[in-house]
Amino acid sequence: MTTKTGDQTVSLRDPYPFFAQKRRESSGVFHGTVMDYSKTPDSLVPKREYTAVSFNAVNTVYRDGRVFSSAPYDNTIGLFMGPTILAMGGKKHREHRNLVSAAFRSKALAQWEPTIVRPICNALIDEFIGTGQADLVRNFTFEFPTRVIARLLGLPDEDLPVFRKRAVELISYTVNYERAFEASAALKDYFCEQIDKRRANPTEDIIGDLVTAEIDGEKLSDEAIYSFLRLLLPAGLETTYRSSGNLLYLLLTHPDQFAAVQENAELLPQAIEEGLRFETPLTTVQRFTTEDVELEGVTIPARSVVGVCMGSANRDERRWERPEEFDIFRKPTPHITFAAGEHTCLGLHLARLETRVAVGCLLDRLANVTLVTDDDPHIFGQPFRSPTGLPVTFDAK
Ligand code: HEM
Repeated sequence: MTTKTGDQTVSLRDPYPFFAQKRRESSGVFHGTVMDYSKTPDSLVPKREYTAVSFNAVNTVYRDGRVFSSAPYDNTIGLFMGPTILAMGGKKHREHRNLVSAAFRSKALAQWEPTIVRPICNALIDEFIGTGQADLVRNFTFEFPTRVIARLLGLPDEDLPVFRKRAVELISYTVNYERAFEASAALKDYFCEQIDKRRANPTEDIIGDLVTAEIDGEKLSDEAIYSFLRLLLPAGLETTYRSSGNLLYLLLTHPDQFAAVQENAELLPQAIEEGLRFETPLTTVQRFTTEDVELEGVTIPARSVVGVCMGSANRDERRWERPEEFDIFRKPTPHITFAAGEHTCLGLHLARLETRVAVGCLLDRLANVTLVTDDDPHIFGQPFRSPTGLPVTFDAK
């Protein structure tokens, strides 16, 4: 399957040759897009777009939030999430981010591994381990981040089915706008109830932390809290399920490297980093220029959309040797999958923890895991990427 970006046809199965061509043909920035606008209403298709494809260009854009603003998110994802830190800049962003980041402090993270993440992963494996076969997307990667987020927020277990349904509807906003708006409103009502409960009875969970967070006497408004909670669904749930699926697919299709990780679990963190570099779950985000600017020798006029292609940056041959190879043993060099600068992913430690525990639990409990290739499972999509499925057979250990 292919998609049209500008006047070119790009493979949704493998957009990387297209990215490489754009890196070769440009200084690192080109006038054009890597996005598929075939299903986007005309009014939302940028009139003028440039795209950063080299590591340097992507890094520079991320680190200059004044010139490369994220404010237009208010008119895209913000329509469903509400006003969030993603679309803020400068002082306002810093203050707001400080308030919400209290909920992601590392002390909390250390407690979450044994009490929340590991039990959830093991409970999911319990559900299929007796059968000797599973689709690791449907039965595992798609489900565990939702359960983790629900527990971190402190939502009652009996609310999980409705929360899951609304979360999936919200993150599918590009597929069905109307349903996503309904989900957004329903989640607002639901989160407001949860916020009210915590104002009456403080709790030790993320919503509880957000309700009590305070800097210089400033507290978050209800709108800021429920908008942030809605943002956690695409930001924290979709990316994590996709990236853990990508890593499993890459390991299953590179049996030598899979065997090495199985033999020595200490290799897992470097396998996770290589998976994030090689197949980022989100290849591209966007910024908007607030003034004329020169980037890698290209003059970009004010009020242009700038595509920020991490998928391409992560395979820049000027930074990595053999960038088009998945190799967990390569020399460690930081990728840019979690962005850089002021909007650097707030959940990056949680994402790494979740993936390490989830894949670790599978390795601990399943042996001889083999991908069933009859239906040609493969990683697919642009800008979001993850496996079409991960049907496997295995022996229980
Ligand atoms: C592998 C998983 C993940 C990836 C690849 C990822 C990637 C990113 C990227 C690229 C951005 C910047 C977007 C932009 O500036 O346009 C971002 C921001 C953010 N991420 Fe993540 N993310 C992941 C997991 C998570 C998790 C688990 C959470 C929380 C539960 C989270 C919460 C956030 C938040 C709140 C922001 C906004 C930060 C700000 O604007 O200051 N992310 N993430």
